[in-house]
Amino acid sequence: MCGIVGFIGSQQAAPILLDGLKKLEYRGYDSAGIAILNDSKIDIRKVTGRIANLCELTDDGKNCNGTVGIGHTRWATHGAPTDTNAHPHLSNDGKFAVVHNGIIENYIALREELIQKGYDFQSETDTEVIVHLIEMYYKGDLKKAVIKTSARLHGSYALGVVCTDEPEKIYVAREASPLILGVGVGENYFASDVTALVSYTRNAIYMEDGEFAEITPDSITVFDPAGKPIEKNISRITWDIQSAEKGGYEHFMLKEIMEQPRAVKATIAPRIKGDDIVLDDTDLTAEYLKSINKIVITACGSAYYAGCAGKYAIEKLCRIPVQVELASELRYSDPLIDEHTLLIVLSQSGETADTIAAMKECKNRGAKTLAIVNVVGSTIANIADNTLYTWAGPEIAVATTKGYTTQVAVLYLFALYTAKKIGSIEDKEYSDALKTVKSLPKKIQEAIDMNTGIANFAKKYHGVDSVFFIGRNTDYAVSLEAALKLKEISYIHAESYAAGELKHGTIALIEEHRPVVALCCNRALMEKTMSNIVEVKARGADILAVTFKDNQKIVPLADDMVFVPETDTIFTAAVEIIPLQLLSYYVAKENGCDIDKPKNLAKSVTVE
Ligand code: AGP
Repeated sequence: MCGIVGFIGSQQAAPILLDGLKKLEYRGYDSAGIAILNDSKIDIRKVTGRIANLCELTDDGKNCNGTVGIGHTRWATHGAPTDTNAHPHLSNDGKFAVVHNGIIENYIALREELIQKGYDFQSETDTEVIVHLIEMYYKGDLKKAVIKTSARLHGSYALGVVCTDEPEKIYVAREASPLILGVGVGENYFASDVTALVSYTRNAIYMEDGEFAEITPDSITVFDPAGKPIEKNISRITWDIQSAEKGGYEHFMLKEIMEQPRAVKATIAPRIKGDDIVLDDTDLTAEYLKSINKIVITACGSAYYAGCAGKYAIEKLCRIPVQVELASELRYSDPLIDEHTLLIVLSQSGETADTIAAMKECKNRGAKTLAIVNVVGSTIANIADNTLYTWAGPEIAVATTKGYTTQVAVLYLFALYTAKKIGSIEDKEYSDALKTVKSLPKKIQEAIDMNTGIANFAKKYHGVDSVFFIGRNTDYAVSLEAALKLKEISYIHAESYAAGELKHGTIALIEEHRPVVALCCNRALMEKTMSNIVEVKARGADILAVTFKDNQKIVPLADDMVFVPETDTIFTAAVEIIPLQLLSYYVAKENGCDIDKPKNLAKSVTVE
């Protein structure tokens, strides 16, 4: 959570920091601040609320003079979102300022130690210990102070540090939180995410855990934890600037929903060569795939639900058992995983703390790891044995849309690839399935086009206090994601239920006019789901059915209908979710919610 940014050069730093913070605001948005070095003093401005408040406070940066600075946008963990708890934090002697993304797990012990030594704490944050440690260890050499401080910290951090005695330098350090250096000409940058850098430079250095760096206007030197300089590659940022902007849409979420045909195409097309699926960025050989006896998929939130959808395709095509596990549970479950398990890790950001921890746990037990990740150079991509990137481009809205569909699409490719390699699929079935996967971008576009009127349903649903989503099998998997989408952006209670399970208790909650969204895109189970629709309808529910255009059977049962193009059941999730993303979006809009930045959330969940 939290976003950090820094600039050193000859331009005014504050406007550049504010611009960077706006790009990082999706990472956290309860308070923000900047620290600018000016005339051997540190000028700190911080404020509760959005970056807009910080822009107002600083007159868009015009009233903060200085060409060196650091900035922060916060998602509160330790201490409420207040001006005092906002970063940057200042040392008692006023010489050092620090911004931090991550969690210092041993901060209580460090705080007590520092208080005993006479340091005065202003905030309730874990971060403040860092700035006091730096002051304590500083003996005229900021590099040494950063090394000594880092060695005392347990947990995760990406840090930016400025010092009035060394005004031509910024120090940064990374441990388990993203940190990227932007290489300019006569000026340099750092940020939590390339989106904050891309307007200024396309040359980036990805920091790794344990590394720290000295940044001056003309140089960047990266060091190992002992302080020895190390060579780092400069990577080219390929994301374009427009893809991180709204491009005429009212919200990033709507833009990202509309981008899905292109995102899924960009993800699958380069990996399909003629009749072959080529995953040449992996070492998943036929021999290895034949040696595994199970696949475990782990992730959090929507990425977990993408795994739930992908499981059906993998099991059907490969006949290998697939377990989908919440990363926050898997990591503490003493999992039955060994070298015959393939662990698939799904993450849009590549930085989700629980997912990283579960992955490390399973790696230690011998599993090979395959990451399906959107952010190049992210922690999960770095740790994994193999990474398949989803080429969705930057996803800014907190609620994922194209992140989810591209993850699902990669799982479909993986399922088909593996089935072919291990010989669990006939040639005809393979080529039909491949044709379906190739057609997904077109079908997703059709699903968007078929649902241009969905905003009208939103008017009916926005005032309700609870919605049920029901479905069976693949429909159930999609209903999980649909319910999460609705609750996270509209704040309406939503619950997904396996349609056949309702009558075992939860049907007690069905009452007159309770909205029930019934997902009916699984032809084989259509009649079964219809029986469940009848059950809830008999108890007064209002039914919104999601099904195929020509499926007239449902019409007499449903109050409202939403259509999608028919797709082979095991590949339907990427298409079926589209109208439900749109429904959530428009319901949230009717409710006047802050769609791209829902309350209490952050895009990248880097805490347990
Ligand atoms: C979904 O809309 C949420 N933003 C959330 O559930 C998200 O999918 C989850 O936090 C996992 O994030 P990741 O894909 O970046 O690991």
